[in-house]
Amino acid sequence: METTDINLYTFGSHKSLKDLCEKLGDSDFCADLGLRYPYLGGSMAKRISSVAMVEELGRIGMLGFFGAAGLPFSVVESAVDRLAGADFPCGFNLIHSPQEPDLEKALAELYIRKGVRLVEASAFLALTLPLVRYRTHGIHRLPDGTIVVPNRIIAKVSREELAEKFFSPPPEKLLQELVAEGAITAEQAGLAARIPLAQEVTAEADSGGHTDNRPALALFPTIQSVALRMQAKYDYAVKLRAGLGGGIATPAAAAAAFAMGAAYIMTGSINQACIESGTSDEVRRMLAETRQADVSMAPAADMFEMGVTVQVLKRGTMFPMRAAKLYEIYRAYACLEDIPTAERDKLEKTFFQAAMSDIWQNTRSYFLERDPRQVERAERDPKHLMALVFRWYLGQAAHWAKDGQVSRKMDYQVWCGPAMGAFNEWVAGSFLEPPARRTVSTVALNIIFGAAVLTRANILRYQGVQLPPEALNIQPLEYTQIKEYLS
Ligand SMILES: Cc1cc2nc3c(=O)[nH]c(=O)nc-3n(C[C@H](O)[C@H](O)[C@H](O)COP(=O)(O)O)c2cc1C
Repeated sequence: METTDINLYTFGSHKSLKDLCEKLGDSDFCADLGLRYPYLGGSMAKRISSVAMVEELGRIGMLGFFGAAGLPFSVVESAVDRLAGADFPCGFNLIHSPQEPDLEKALAELYIRKGVRLVEASAFLALTLPLVRYRTHGIHRLPDGTIVVPNRIIAKVSREELAEKFFSPPPEKLLQELVAEGAITAEQAGLAARIPLAQEVTAEADSGGHTDNRPALALFPTIQSVALRMQAKYDYAVKLRAGLGGGIATPAAAAAAFAMGAAYIMTGSINQACIESGTSDEVRRMLAETRQADVSMAPAADMFEMGVTVQVLKRGTMFPMRAAKLYEIYRAYACLEDIPTAERDKLEKTFFQAAMSDIWQNTRSYFLERDPRQVERAERDPKHLMALVFRWYLGQAAHWAKDGQVSRKMDYQVWCGPAMGAFNEWVAGSFLEPPARRTVSTVALNIIFGAAVLTRANILRYQGVQLPPEALNIQPLEYTQIKEYLS
């Protein structure tokens, strides 16, 4: 067959490409949430997904989640206040905190009190009372029988068992606890038994931060199948949907996600590299140089004792190695005093650059304010004290990176997945190569627009039109150029 010389951008009409961008994914999902494009910027802890990032995504018809994890309560509260009057959809992270259950509860209550209507629930290992309380708050029935649920949860999971739990109605036991507490009425509990805890679940494949490193191609169809199964089982009045995050950094990956049936896509790593993110320019520079294999797993600060790991950058920092060493030591000894002197000296001189006794004093003061039970426990249980001291390092390592503290560059903890390398390869040689040119809106629009162009190319190819190979080489376009196509 002859190769056809078609310009994929202008073939047909601009309008059809614009329409295609808006039709990728599940257009009912976009309509329900008030979005133009099925593109979500996932929560990134410690306000790395900042208010500015959420605003920018909202401005272009996408959805951003504010990164509430790991922040003082007052900082989350002021972000909620700043975004309260927004005339675009936005959401906040509700992260599972098994080590600090009071914090999770306080956060859920803050969202309820302030009328936050959308949260991204993540890192849950089991369902909790605050989560169910958030979802069921204000549930009621209209005169025509419709059940109205004001609060929406988009859950992010890497495991099918959890997807099943989120797609199911809230557990009866937790509903009864809420009734007993007076948080909801028995009638509300009855209504809640007929809705899914989350109508949307994001399948989180191999991503930056908390991840099970599942391959998207295997994980997504599984989660989508769970959605269909649970839909049939509970015969809900609403449609369950599965989105996909983890590894999406290029038009090709986005087009593949939509081709698999993703209702929406979610990105993270590539947004951290954009100028609106709440990290430092130093980290943005490191991210702009990251290649596929420059990431690895390291112990997580929040679930250190449980052996949970997070995906981080390994190029240009020794954090993954040092954090792994700390976990090894934690497993091997019952308390700080049992660590051989030479090893302790090395930790204090090289890793911490501080005396462990001083670190404990700082950590103690911190927890006395935030969660005094941690201090009581540590003073009873020396292994817990050791965990808190080691977690100080893991926590600070993220701050040193975020604040661009150059003297601690070897200890930077930068959450990042292989998506970063894919993005850097795609934009190499283009205006998006320098980190200063990466805005979250330009990156996001390029991915959605490029996915539409590739989808159009595939439709043509399946109809027998032979395209030249360069037609499939989607190059990044300037923001104004894309806006022209999409206007
Ligand atoms: C720097 C960084 C911080 C993150 N922090 C959180 C978080 O606090 N809560 C959360 O739900 N997901 C968090 N994630 C995951 C993202 O929201 C998103 O699901 C993920 O990054 C998508 O995969 P990708 O990194 O391959 O794009 C984080 C990711 C990164 C890169």
